[in-house]
Amino acid sequence: MADQQAQTGEDIRPTDIPAIRWEEPPEGPVLVLLDQTRLPAEEVELVCTDASALVEAIRSLAVRGAPLLGIAGAYGVALAAVRGFDVDEAAKALQSARPTAVNLSVGVRRAQSAHRAALARSGEPEDAAAAALAAARALHREDAEASVRMAEHGLALLDELLPGGGHRILTHCNTGSLVSGGEGTAFAVALHAHRAGRLRRLWVDETRPLLQGARLTAYEAARSGMSYTLLTDNAAGSLFAAGEVDAVLIGADRIAADGSVANKVGSYPLAVLARYHHVPLIVVAPVTTVDPDTPDGAAIEVEQRPGYEVTEVTVPQGAAAGAVGGVPVAPLGTQAYNPAFDVTPPELVTAIVTEEGAVSPVTAEGLAELFERSRRA
Ligand code: MRU
Repeated sequence: MADQQAQTGEDIRPTDIPAIRWEEPPEGPVLVLLDQTRLPAEEVELVCTDASALVEAIRSLAVRGAPLLGIAGAYGVALAAVRGFDVDEAAKALQSARPTAVNLSVGVRRAQSAHRAALARSGEPEDAAAAALAAARALHREDAEASVRMAEHGLALLDELLPGGGHRILTHCNTGSLVSGGEGTAFAVALHAHRAGRLRRLWVDETRPLLQGARLTAYEAARSGMSYTLLTDNAAGSLFAAGEVDAVLIGADRIAADGSVANKVGSYPLAVLARYHHVPLIVVAPVTTVDPDTPDGAAIEVEQRPGYEVTEVTVPQGAAAGAVGGVPVAPLGTQAYNPAFDVTPPELVTAIVTEEGAVSPVTAEGLAELFERSRRA
């Protein structure tokens, strides 16, 4: 049935604009972002010359996804430092641009501490700015390396859970190179399986309301040449019931100490469906997404987004027509409930895969051990 609607990636558009890059033109250093609100209609760069432009880009989701937010936050601190702005003020604004993905504050704090330490050492603002930039570059590089290791651990786990290969994977939101210094988290595992000839199909949830699945994951899947099929979020249940899903792979924005997972809204219903249908649900995230200071799911702050994202259908229209634009679908004045994330309790998560390996079953002890291992590494 579903195979009839499959896309096979024939429409691959070669593009290699990275999601984020630091540049130093003669006018002064800038942070260049691939504006994700314009995808897949257009690949447009967004040039940030200061941290406040970056804060706006984070809020509008021009730059998004937990690992990339961490990298962006670190570069944002470096940008403030090299351009002579108040670094602590910039760090505060960046950290609070979005509340749920812990990577953002991890990245900001890393560059801020490097800046502080260098300033205390030499007293020279230039040295401190260079230290902040070096910290951002290191985080960027480490995230790319983590992505490779997550892909390896994730595929090994899939092969163990699903002997016989030919995996049919369902994913939600967007977790590929658009959110990472490398090839991503959950999507990197699917990509690794595809390259190894063990991915039969990637089922891509469209991911209402902002369509990260339809606009971004489908775009990444098409570029990679993998077999993928897009579905509305509501169609997932019938797909499970038809026995068409072997595993669910998702990313995470914050993993609490007890293993509760905050991820794009719609992840929790998938976890419930997966459990009912005896399908493993695997969360793939770098250790920077694990937050030992958040004890449990109830303590995770879930970002509430504006109602118009729900009362309007958001479509990327391209530069000529302006950026993302909404087409109203509900009567004027309709109130909307629009949490950006939901929280899946640890008992519904089969495994959490990080660059340090997998935790399964998901327990506070297992996660703490993994976190400590990564600190020692
Ligand atoms: O609101 P977004 O688009 O930033 O949400 C992104 C997600 O929920 C991703 O699934 C999550 O950041 C994991 S990406 C590795």
